[in-house]
Amino acid sequence: MTPTPNPSPKTETVSESSGGRGEKTDKLWHGRFEAPPSKITEEISESISFDHVLYKVDIRASLAHARMLRRIAVLSEQEFTAIEKGLQQVEKEIAAGTMPFSAALEDIHMHVESRLTEIIGEAGKKLHTGRSRNDQVAVDTHLFVREALSEQRADLVKLLEQLLALAKSAKDTVWVGYTHLQIAQPVLLSHYLLAYFWQFARDLELADFTAGSLRHSPLGAAALGGANYAIDRAMTASELGFVAPYANSMDAVANRDYQLNYHFWVTRLFLHISRFCEDIIIYNSTEFGYITLGDAVTTGSSIMPQKKNPDIAELLRGKAGRVNGNLQALITNLKGLPLTYNRDLQEDKVYLFDSIGQARQGLLGMREILQNIRFHEARVVENLSRGFALATDVADYLVREKQTPFRDAHAVAGNAVAYAEKHNKRLETLSADDWKSIAGSPLSFPTDFFHPLSSIKRRRGEGSTNPEAVVKQIDQAAAFLAQHATTAQ
Ligand code: ARG
Repeated sequence: MTPTPNPSPKTETVSESSGGRGEKTDKLWHGRFEAPPSKITEEISESISFDHVLYKVDIRASLAHARMLRRIAVLSEQEFTAIEKGLQQVEKEIAAGTMPFSAALEDIHMHVESRLTEIIGEAGKKLHTGRSRNDQVAVDTHLFVREALSEQRADLVKLLEQLLALAKSAKDTVWVGYTHLQIAQPVLLSHYLLAYFWQFARDLELADFTAGSLRHSPLGAAALGGANYAIDRAMTASELGFVAPYANSMDAVANRDYQLNYHFWVTRLFLHISRFCEDIIIYNSTEFGYITLGDAVTTGSSIMPQKKNPDIAELLRGKAGRVNGNLQALITNLKGLPLTYNRDLQEDKVYLFDSIGQARQGLLGMREILQNIRFHEARVVENLSRGFALATDVADYLVREKQTPFRDAHAVAGNAVAYAEKHNKRLETLSADDWKSIAGSPLSFPTDFFHPLSSIKRRRGEGSTNPEAVVKQIDQAAAFLAQHATTAQ
């Protein structure tokens, strides 16, 4: 589920709360209080301004809880039916944006319950039997993350399919591999794209691991020690799609590991996205000219008419910092928190909802970028030559054909580069005489030796950029996708 703001909440929200006026409070937890909280307390306490996006999962979990209360005869049939209908109406009202939110009611849980009671009367007051907001917010966020993750997993699979299709179509295209952002060696464009495929493939595995950490239901842990009723936790767990209830009720309300996992997943995903984007930004520059980004993913400058900026790639790169910030925020929030629930935990949702939204944009943005790239092989080939990318091939040739020890061969190839640079030549345009002065004896190379594709074909071994190895790699990638594409967590 993607967090969407309540379409048009009637906002008497945050600032217009009552409070601080000295009258007895009307809060759902009012019993032992004599006076309402002060205005700033109410402002600090409220989370409805951001947790309203939980309303659907909150209502779903409440329905499961109510059904269980009916089963154990805490609710009568009529009461259950009234609650069920009432909750459905509350959901409709929130979806339509007609239900007002108020800071005085703190959070989504109290909004739903209080509106329910307004609609159906006394029966609404029974819904919270055997439950606390501590297990309620925990079950809601479990459900919310699980849904977001399952949507994003599907987007990630599409991204992998797209990368694989691109790699298949680029099996004969020469590309360049860099180390230190210095031209290193020619590679197949497929090989380059598949390097990203595998990074995102590991993110798919991590998504499933993360989903695994969401398999237990906190509902029924109540405040921290369990409920004073014969509740059936297995029933609500299975109705809500969990494998089982948490084994420990204190752990159930205090645990945020599933959120840490989710944040780390998003952060790592974005590290991969941002590294790809960085390549794209560099390659799209006039100086490199290896790719052209289409209009769909570029924007203009308000002052410089010639500009077509790779803003989307830049923003995705920037968002990597943002989601890492959310991960760090949660880590910092959790550090040293005593068991079990502490109100600090309410803040978790600020980071969580933001990263959920960012992950969605990152995945969709990546796919859009991939759809709008044109690759310019000729420009890459020219740079390979300018960058003496086949110097290693020269050294290896001397080792193989002339039995020169590699260290000596490396020196000869190095001399050749220096010589070519000095005489404004390329390795492939050095004459027999040139080679004689470089190596001390005449040297000739087979036709096509200096073609980048020849160099690529000389590369050996599994996982290399050799065209046959790349074909195998494409099969491996397809097998990975077939195995993981539909695997439910
Ligand atoms: N809005 C709260 C949160 O998000 C719900 C739990 C409140 N529990 C409590 N003991 N005050 O954490």
